[in-house]
Amino acid sequence: MDAHDPAAVSRERLGNPPGPCAMVMFGAGGDLTKRKLMPAIFNLAKGKLLPEHFAIVGISIEQYSDEQFRQRMTDDVREFYGGDFDTSVWDWFVKRLYYVSGDFKDPALYTKLGEQLAKVEGEQGTEGNRLFYLATSPTFFPIIVQHLGSAGLVKQDGSKWRRVVIEKPFGHDLATAVALNRSVGEVLDETQVYRIDHYLGKETVQNILAFRFANGIFEPVWNRRYVDHVQVTVAEQLGVELRGGYYETAGALRDMVPNHIFQLITLSAMEPPISFDAAAVHDEQTKVLRAIQPLSPERVLDQAVRGQYADGTIGGKHVDAYRNEPQVAHDSKMPTYVAIALHIDNWRWAGVPFYLRTGKRLKERVTQMVIRFRRPPFVLFRKTLVEKIPPNELVIHIEPDEGISLSFEAKIPGPSVRLGPVNMDFRYSDYFGTAPSTGYETLLYDCMLGDPTLFQRADMVEAGWSVVQPILDVWSALPPRDFPNYAAGSWGPSQADELLRRDGREWHVPGTPKAR
Ligand code: BG6
Repeated sequence: MDAHDPAAVSRERLGNPPGPCAMVMFGAGGDLTKRKLMPAIFNLAKGKLLPEHFAIVGISIEQYSDEQFRQRMTDDVREFYGGDFDTSVWDWFVKRLYYVSGDFKDPALYTKLGEQLAKVEGEQGTEGNRLFYLATSPTFFPIIVQHLGSAGLVKQDGSKWRRVVIEKPFGHDLATAVALNRSVGEVLDETQVYRIDHYLGKETVQNILAFRFANGIFEPVWNRRYVDHVQVTVAEQLGVELRGGYYETAGALRDMVPNHIFQLITLSAMEPPISFDAAAVHDEQTKVLRAIQPLSPERVLDQAVRGQYADGTIGGKHVDAYRNEPQVAHDSKMPTYVAIALHIDNWRWAGVPFYLRTGKRLKERVTQMVIRFRRPPFVLFRKTLVEKIPPNELVIHIEPDEGISLSFEAKIPGPSVRLGPVNMDFRYSDYFGTAPSTGYETLLYDCMLGDPTLFQRADMVEAGWSVVQPILDVWSALPPRDFPNYAAGSWGPSQADELLRRDGREWHVPGTPKAR
């Protein structure tokens, strides 16, 4: 297959394994590898979606032989794999694992890697196709890419492809994202770079496109004439666990907004692309980001809310305040919650606010988008018992209860005219059952096929950072004075409720058909 020919890619996508390749995992000793990447690749193996000629070369600082690495991965995947651990598939898989130890900053590592790859390619017949996965701390991204370039390991050679997957966070702000793109671009062609955002691996997120564009009935009302506003909630019950060190440099805004939440917003707000080709989809997503009204410092103060959790109770258990988490400063100013009102200045969405909120240690774990429609005129119900007509709502449940529900009013049976809300519900599990998935399967599979649609292009990443940069600037110039300002186990700071209340709106209460 010509990996640069989109038609060839889509022919291959029809559930076939990709062509031969070796995957090189930087950060093989880390959390992401054992919790997500290895289980995802194992799932692909179980689904017969890995090439017959396949190998993984793990790299990290620890000293292991190939055999010790295989044993460690066996233990890790047994511990973290959620489904049925099929030993015959694992036996096939584990023989394809290899290891190189070394310091990512040391040029000698890349010489060793080159030798190991030559050996692996001979033993496993992977034909020189290579997928490099950077599951490391972001400080190593430019360093590893530069070394891979200097060692000649990513040079595309005839029909042999070389691709590099870069994890999030891609940059720390706009300037560092631009610099990282530049540094990566010195070594790699844009077609070799796969900037990953695991939200795009979620079925429910991919389904936003199918829902909008494979159905004739929703698109006609998907605009300012019918939609009152849109809400995006990404709420977590977890705190920062053992990631305090990273979180102290990131905070809720960088961690969730320019990446995960902007994927949800762009897929739901974009114009229909002319095809499913990566460029067509990316163009439309980028246009949405560019159309978001820039936030002046005054608007930041008005339209963006930050919060940090105090201690509280979740699931009946007392949990500590953020400032008492490991590796977190006792007077930390880092937000663990943000809520923002954004406006997309284009013909489809002018005047329709997009409210987004995300936070740690909130009341429930729930990710959802709510499309709140305009109310119908009241005329018909004036002389009845009906006092008000609530708006219709379409809720896209991303997790944990994957599905879509539409709420509408129905007449309550009886002689008088009274209305009550009812729901039409679609649950993935009812129709399609459930299969263990980490969300990385599709992304890894696509990357081996050479389909970048579910990855982020350089300009998209920069457009996302451009939107949040004014908020980062204002917040760093004006440190918060009221932190911590929400109790763990609550829905976040009261200012976030105020953000909607002053527009005459309120946050949808998850689990209920609609907010009253
Ligand atoms: C990660 C963030 O990218 O996404 C985490 O760094 C967050 O802080 C996680 O918890 C949420 O992902 P998911 O798939 O659990 O919604």
